[in-house]
Amino acid sequence: MNVLFIGDIVGSVGRNALKKVLPALKTKYNPHIIIANGENAAAGRGITAPIVKELFDAGVHGITMGNHTWDNKDIFEWIDDQPRLVRPANYVAEAPGQGAAVIKANGKELAIVNLQGRTFLPPIDCPFRKADELIEELQRKTKNILVDFHAEATSEKIAMGWYLDGRASIVVGTHTHVQTNDDRILPGGTAYLTDVGMSGPMNGILGMERTAVLHKFLTQLPARFVVDEGDWHLHAIAVEIDESTGMAKKIQKIRLTETDWLLM
Ligand SMILES: [Fe+2]
Ligand SMILES: [Fe+2]
Repeated sequence: MNVLFIGDIVGSVGRNALKKVLPALKTKYNPHIIIANGENAAAGRGITAPIVKELFDAGVHGITMGNHTWDNKDIFEWIDDQPRLVRPANYVAEAPGQGAAVIKANGKELAIVNLQGRTFLPPIDCPFRKADELIEELQRKTKNILVDFHAEATSEKIAMGWYLDGRASIVVGTHTHVQTNDDRILPGGTAYLTDVGMSGPMNGILGMERTAVLHKFLTQLPARFVVDEGDWHLHAIAVEIDESTGMAKKIQKIRLTETDWLLM
C-alpha cells in the first residue's frame, strides 16, 4: 500500500497549497491513504473543526497534531468527536482526544500514532514508553503503522526511529518545518525521515511573517507572530509498505515550491 504524509500545514497558505497539489501528487504517487500534520492549520496556531472538515474534504484521511494542539481552546469541545484526528499520545491520561487511530481508506488500513518529544519542548510523559504501549496494542489490529514523532531535537527523533525499527512501518518527524535529507529504510524495515517539512509560506520564518520573529530574536521581547503570505512550498513523503510484513519498501521525499507547481 502507498501512504502520503504531508508536513505541518501552516495557515490558509498551506491549506490552499495542499488543495492545489494534491491531485498531481495522487496521480504521481497513487496513495491509498493520505495523512497530514494539522497543528498549525488555523492561522499557524492549532486547528478548528471547520478546518478539520476542509482537510478531509480535500482528500486527507487522517490528521496528526503536535505541541500546538490546544491553541484553539474550542478543540476541547469537539476533539472527542473526531476519530480520524490524533494528538500526541503522551499527554496525561485525562487529556481529551486520542493519540492513535486506525485509518481506513481505499480498502487499506493504516494505524497512525502521534507522539511529542521532550527535548527543548515542555515536559510531557515518555514518548518511547508510550510508543511501546500503543504499538503493542495496534499490532493486534494492523501491521501498517505510521508514527508522527513531533519533536525538536534531531537526536531524539533519530533515537525514536531506531527504537521503533521493525515495529512501525514509518517513523517520520514533524515540528521543525524544515525537511531533512536523511530519508532511509532502517535495517528492520522502518521508513524513516527526521523531519518531513511543512506546507505553507516559504519566505517567512517557519511559515511566520519575518518582522515579528526578527523583533523577538533581536529584543528578546514577546511578539505576536502572524502567518506570512506569498509563495508557498510543500513537503511530504510517499512511502510504499509491504502489507504482508508491515515493513516499508520505499520512501521518497517530496519538495514542491509554487514555482515548481506552475511549471508542472
Ligand atoms: Fe508545526
Ligand atoms: Fe510543533
